[in-house]
Amino acid sequence: MPSKRSGPLAPGVAFITGGARGLGNAIAVSFAKEGARGVVIVDIQDEETFELGKKNVQDFGCECIAIRADVTKEDDISNAVQQAVEHFGRIDYAANFAGVVGPSGPISEVSLTDWQKCQDVNSSGVFLATKHEMRQMMTQSGIGGVEDGRVAQRGSIVNCASVNSQMAMTGTTAYTASKHACLGITKAAALEGRKFGVRVNCVSPGFLLTRMLEPIVKGDMGGAITGGVNEEVKKKGAGEVLWEGFEKRQGRKAVFEEVGDVVVLLSTPRMSLVVGANLCVDGGFVINEGND
Ligand SMILES: NC(=O)c1ccc[n+]([C@@H]2O[C@H](COP(=O)([O-])OP(=O)(O)OC[C@H]3O[C@@H](n4cnc5c(N)ncnc54)[C@H](O)[C@@H]3O)[C@@H](O)[C@H]2O)c1
Repeated sequence: MPSKRSGPLAPGVAFITGGARGLGNAIAVSFAKEGARGVVIVDIQDEETFELGKKNVQDFGCECIAIRADVTKEDDISNAVQQAVEHFGRIDYAANFAGVVGPSGPISEVSLTDWQKCQDVNSSGVFLATKHEMRQMMTQSGIGGVEDGRVAQRGSIVNCASVNSQMAMTGTTAYTASKHACLGITKAAALEGRKFGVRVNCVSPGFLLTRMLEPIVKGDMGGAITGGVNEEVKKKGAGEVLWEGFEKRQGRKAVFEEVGDVVVLLSTPRMSLVVGANLCVDGGFVINEGND
């Protein structure tokens, strides 16, 4: 008797904010690889980045549309959801990965404007995206491929938190607060969504050298986080020293696909009882409180 579990892992439609590049694009590609019928990438990037992001998805034979929308603007995100539904009929999996690193530096020096910009994208942006994705998902029918006896899944939303949703580092007040907020939004929305068959969870990636983190590693923002200048910092630069420390705590370098694949798995109805979770995708970074 063939198993009902055969067939593509994620046959539905994925909607990904921050999907033009970085981790968001890796998720888009992972959905394409796992059989998604369509992928929608939502971002504010330049045309070239959009085109490359789309091509990465299309290379796996998956239809991909790109929508320019700013997650901090409610009309933009509501229109993006509407356009995606007009095109594909529904949204089965949403991944909210639009994000910014925000200001680095001691709280005594961070301006209200810089603080707010970070909260606007990482916190309000996740709130707005979750709100409009939830509105769509709670009214659509359940996705197929659910085994007998399991609850129907109308949709899955995965928000992008960070190890900074569970811990802090000096010089990261704005980012850390925004990622704690992301976790809070996820938990509350998860309890509301479960009544409708919409699962909401978040993931907390460790450290991957995306364009967002380049200013910290290659630029001059690293010093605010490492704090203090020692001989090693003088020799290698604060950013490099910081990054080596992150990767040591994480155990190794990570690749973007390792985050993409986890988001796809978390989105499938096979994860039916996983609601409001914060899944660390960090090689053990958060639990590593020793000096391993
Ligand atoms: N790189 C890491 O190590 C790491 C670790 C933990 C969490 N994260 C999170 O992963 C997510 C993706 O970041 P990344 O590292 O891939 O960086 P990235 O800069 O490559 O990707 C972020 C994307 O979000 C988009 N974006 C920013 N503001 C937006 C807005 N207002 N509206 C729509 N799109 C917007 C950017 O244009 C960009 O394409 C972020 O939420 C980030 O906080 C990254």
